[in-house]
Amino acid sequence: MMQELIEQAADIITGSRVTLALTGAGISVESGIPDFRSAAGLWSKYDPAEYATISAFRANPQKVWEMLWEMDEVVSQARPNNAHLAMGELETMGFLHCIITQNIDNLHQAGGSRNVIEYHGNSSTLSCLWCGKRYKAEEKRDENPPRCECQNVLKPDVIFFGEAIPEEAMRRSFELASSAEALLVVGTSAVVSPVNTIPSIAKGNSAKIIEINKERTHLTDSLTDIFFQGSAGEIMPQIVEAIKKKKAPLP
Ligand code: APR
Repeated sequence: MMQELIEQAADIITGSRVTLALTGAGISVESGIPDFRSAAGLWSKYDPAEYATISAFRANPQKVWEMLWEMDEVVSQARPNNAHLAMGELETMGFLHCIITQNIDNLHQAGGSRNVIEYHGNSSTLSCLWCGKRYKAEEKRDENPPRCECQNVLKPDVIFFGEAIPEEAMRRSFELASSAEALLVVGTSAVVSPVNTIPSIAKGNSAKIIEINKERTHLTDSLTDIFFQGSAGEIMPQIVEAIKKKKAPLP
């Protein structure tokens, strides 16, 4: 049964002229980074209303850095896992055109993907909300909280709740989704908008949707064509292997 589904997914991807991936925190869990809404997720420890909104950051940046520091400790040590690497390989083979990610951990890029749209920014740089100066996160890793030379607390270049999604990320992702023929949805609960409209935009173009998640989501019984329940790090490589076999030069 599983192998059949893997083969079907491989057929969809090799037959698709425009294939996208939409990824969330679940794809980085096997790299040691907790997700947000699973049982042991970050939001079970830190209330997002108190730690993940731009107003919470402006009101008390030191408090928000308690959470950011803990995340940064884990993210800075994290390495791409087999799911990231498999997606990088798929792009190199010409079967994955762009990854739309909600993640801020830079692991898709570290895993070899070049075409990545970051909906929620990237934690590898910090900016000063007061004077606009920008720093590399590793330059300030020994300061908690990190401060600008103007002495104000720096903010990571990630999108907090209440901040606008980067205009270019939104425009490009909607444009790509409206011409997609296949969409891989990997490791996301798909509850945060506007990124969670990508699957329905792709479906509007009759795209086939392949979902990989440890648990079912609201997409599974509505938009998903093939659902793999399990770890991205185990399933993504199997799909890539099946594609390689299909495309292997005849003996
Ligand atoms: N393989 C596949 N899926 C997994 C794995 C795994 N190894 N581990 C967890 N998952 C699944 C979970 O079951 C869950 O459905 O990944 C999903 C992660 O969902 P969330 O924790 O809600 O993360 P995400 O969808 O990325 O959240 C979106 O919300 O809090 C904001 O800005 C934050 O970017 C984040 C956004």
